[in-house]
Formats: sequence, C-alpha cells, structure tokens
Amino acid sequence: MERMKRIPEPMLEIADLSVRFAGKQVLESVNLDLYPGELVMAIGPSGSGKTTLLRAVNRLNEAYPHCNTRGQVRIRLADRWWDIYAPSTPLAELRLRVGMVFQHPNPLPFSIYKNVALPLRISLGMNPKETLLRVQRALEAVQLWSEVKDRLHDSALTLSGGQQQRLCLARVLALEPALLLLDEPTASLDFKATRHIEALFQTLKQRYPILAVTHNPGQMRRLADRVMVLQDGRCVAAMSRPEIEDPEHSRRVMEAFF
Ligand SMILES: Nc1ncnc2c1ncn2[C@@H]1O[C@H](COP(=O)(O)OP(=O)(O)O)[C@@H](O)[C@H]1O
Ligand SMILES: [Mg+2]
Repeated sequence: MERMKRIPEPMLEIADLSVRFAGKQVLESVNLDLYPGELVMAIGPSGSGKTTLLRAVNRLNEAYPHCNTRGQVRIRLADRWWDIYAPSTPLAELRLRVGMVFQHPNPLPFSIYKNVALPLRISLGMNPKETLLRVQRALEAVQLWSEVKDRLHDSALTLSGGQQQRLCLARVLALEPALLLLDEPTASLDFKATRHIEALFQTLKQRYPILAVTHNPGQMRRLADRVMVLQDGRCVAAMSRPEIEDPEHSRRVMEAFF
C-alpha cells in the first residue's frame, strides 16, 4: 500500500512554530509544508514576522540570545528527515543546504569570482579545478556568466544592484542547496532587475523548492504557487493559485490585512 501513495512528500515541514523575542510573541503557531517544484510566499506588512519565519528555518534567530523558539521545523535531505532544532543536527552542514538570499545584496568586498568560490573552498574543501567549474555553472544558472566572464577578478562591488543580487544567488546555488529561502530579494532593485530575477525564480523553483517572503502583492501574483498571509505573527489567510489569480479574491484578502 505504502508504495501506491502518489502524494509527494514535502521538503520542509513547519509545525506549530512560535517565536518570541524577549517575551514578545513574533510568530504564533505557524504551519507550512513546502513541496518539490513549489514557490510558496509569505506576504504581510512590515513587522508581521516574515523575516523571523525564514530565519527560523536555518536557526538564524538564535543569534539573538533573547529569542525563544517552539514547535517543529523538519527538512528532508537525501530522503532523510532532519529535525532542525534537534541538538544533534549539524548546524553548519544544515546552513549549507538551506540557501538564503537577503533583502539587500550582500556581496563580500572581494572579486566576483571569489564571492562564489570562497565558500566552496572553505566550507566544502573543493580543489581549484572543481571550484572553477562549479563557479561557472552557478553564474550560468543565474544568467550572469556572459556579463562577467571577462571580468571575474573585478571587485563584486563594481556590479549593479541586480547583478549583485544574482551573484549572491549564485553563491548560494554553488553550494547545491536543498531549498531556497528568499527574503524580499528584489526589495532594493529597479523594475528591470526585479523582472529579471523574478523570471529566474520561476525557472529555479523546478530544481529548488522556494520559500519567499514579500510585502508586494504584485510580486505575489506573478510568482506564488501558494500564499500565506501573515499579520502580527499569525497566518490569517491562505491562497492557492486559482485564488491568487482571481483579482477580486486576492484584492479582498489584501485589503483585509494591509
Ligand atoms: N532580534 C530581535 N529582537 C527583538 N525583536 C525582534 C527581533 N527581530 C525581529 N523582532 C521583532 O519581531 C517583529 C517581526 O519582525 P520581522 O520578522 O523582521 O518582520 P517582517 O520581516 O515581516 O518585517 C517586529 O516587531 C520586530 O521588531
Ligand atoms: Mg523582513
């Protein structure tokens, strides 16, 4: 019987997740499953807990000593489930497999090449030849290779905002993550760079399940397969693709919570 189940397993399971900072409740009983091939978006106004939700998945909230996390976050790696908050879970390895792209591009003040190569050399101990191949593949995946292949040793800071964000994405992809977390990844980009990155995410989701957050309803309509609406740390509404595409419905939901 087991073998006949057609429903795919999720890659990420968030169950009854609550986060407090110094006693203040920032997330309350959030539940979410992320399946292969999906781009799920959490949308909500500023301060609704979007970033905290993403940071709960790779345990970045713990950088704050006054943070308290309850509930369960599980990730499936090579067909094995890992409880992210179990003390035995190797945190450094976990963070390599859970790629995160931040709101503002954060390239290191090194060359374009070194930005992608450094984590491969340091974290994976990869040799120079392998590294070169992996860097090229990652830069191709984010459609940056043709723009930078003749200037790989220029500083990454000479790139435009959109190129820098694609470089940061390449840095994450080079590590071959199991899934991607995107925290308002186009927030500081202009229209053209935003559309370019959005198109990339549409392609990348086929290979990497994506959990993204945004406060932009337009972006939600363009990208999301499923949506959860956050307000004051609670999930107050959920939408799937037909509802997202229904302008009346999605407008009503947005108006109720923004
Ligand atoms: N390290 C922290 N210490 C205390 N409060 C925090 C911390 N990080 C976030 N918060 C608070 O948690 C709430 C949600 O923040 P955040 O997750 O960043 O929201 P969003 O990304 O939706 O704007 C806000 O009220 C914010 O002030
Ligand atoms: Mg945020």
